[in-house]
Amino acid sequence: MNSKIKIGMFGLGCVGQGLYEVLNKSTGFRADIERIVVKNPDKKRPVNPSLISYDKNDILNNPDIDVVVELIDDPQSAYEIVKTALMHGKHVVTANKKMLAHHFEELYQLQQKYGVSLLYEGSSCGSIPIIRTLEEYFDNEPIQSLEGIFNGTTNYILSKMTQDRIGYAEALRQAQELGFAESDPTNDVEGYDAKYKALIMCWHAFGLSVHPDQVLNLGIDLLGSEDMDYLREKELKLKLTPVVKRLGANNLVAFVLPQFVSKKNPIYYVEQEFNAVSLEARYSGQQFFQGRGAGSLPTGAAVLSDLSALSYGYKYEYKKYRQNEHLTFTNQASIKVYVRFRHSEEIKDLKFTEIEQSYSSPGYQYIIGRILLEELLEKRNSLHQKDIFLALSEGGSESIVLQQDLSVTKEKLVESMEI
Ligand code: HSE
Repeated sequence: MNSKIKIGMFGLGCVGQGLYEVLNKSTGFRADIERIVVKNPDKKRPVNPSLISYDKNDILNNPDIDVVVELIDDPQSAYEIVKTALMHGKHVVTANKKMLAHHFEELYQLQQKYGVSLLYEGSSCGSIPIIRTLEEYFDNEPIQSLEGIFNGTTNYILSKMTQDRIGYAEALRQAQELGFAESDPTNDVEGYDAKYKALIMCWHAFGLSVHPDQVLNLGIDLLGSEDMDYLREKELKLKLTPVVKRLGANNLVAFVLPQFVSKKNPIYYVEQEFNAVSLEARYSGQQFFQGRGAGSLPTGAAVLSDLSALSYGYKYEYKKYRQNEHLTFTNQASIKVYVRFRHSEEIKDLKFTEIEQSYSSPGYQYIIGRILLEELLEKRNSLHQKDIFLALSEGGSESIVLQQDLSVTKEKLVESMEI
């Protein structure tokens, strides 16, 4: 590809403006923005008006444009734009995690068929260069687990609620004002956004494509004052954590849940809109990455880095995906959770495989115990309609056990008790 690339950009919101700014300030890498297609003709735009268009074909059918940058927030339109651009032989840079997580297989095939590149560093954990790290540095070493904080909005909300003691609604409003939240913040607070990012990383870390519907996500929207009191009393913090973990020889579990973390865990110290990725590789052991996970300039900088990579012909090779380690995704694993509820009736259908502790006070009760992921996934929507808060208990990601190993443990226990 020419070293000076010609860009057609879709969207000029928070990330688009960030890219525009960092691109204009860049002294090394140069690119020309030929056109910016936006939706709303009534909005004033802080760019040269001659660049603006309202017709997507001004980019998609323009032979002078070799790279499409897709930064709109509607995943369906983004999918149509990205697909058409790839089919027209244009390289694409996108930050749309929902679109990527739902269409991986097809987008992978399109890249192979049309010999073009699709890059998306800005889609996952903002400015942390995690996709290229997994893709390049860890291209051969097996990854054991990947977890952390993949959503800036929720981490900002939790930090503000803990440090400044402001309420949930006010903290969310601030996160929206600062440009961290999605246009529909349900995606942030219910854990969908973090799940999409975890699944994007999963292709590069484990070579496995898992559909988002197969993966449990619960968020922080039902966090109550009793839960905050519990955390303060135990000197714990709450973080919204995606967990992707290899279990046994070839099983992979993945879920997104709020997690109680103690001072022993490095993510305890990650605050505001910062994200973190804690990665365990088979030979290197533990690695910890931290950086701004949301915001105009940090995400714009990640997109800039992809554009610069494109200018020297960079493509993801999806080595782990091609190597195919024959991993199988499973929800047949047990996790240790804290479940806070108001009336026993509300959780009567929830099957615990083990109860470690239960507590009851006049206004609320909680149970700490083990539940199977498949049980939680099946009941996710009905649980979410009640005033129930569920979180992975402290150290919970280390205590994930495959269902088959759980029964072995129980049998062994019975045998030894009989002896
Ligand atoms: N809403 C997202 C977040 C933006 O808060 O992390 C960055 O992907």
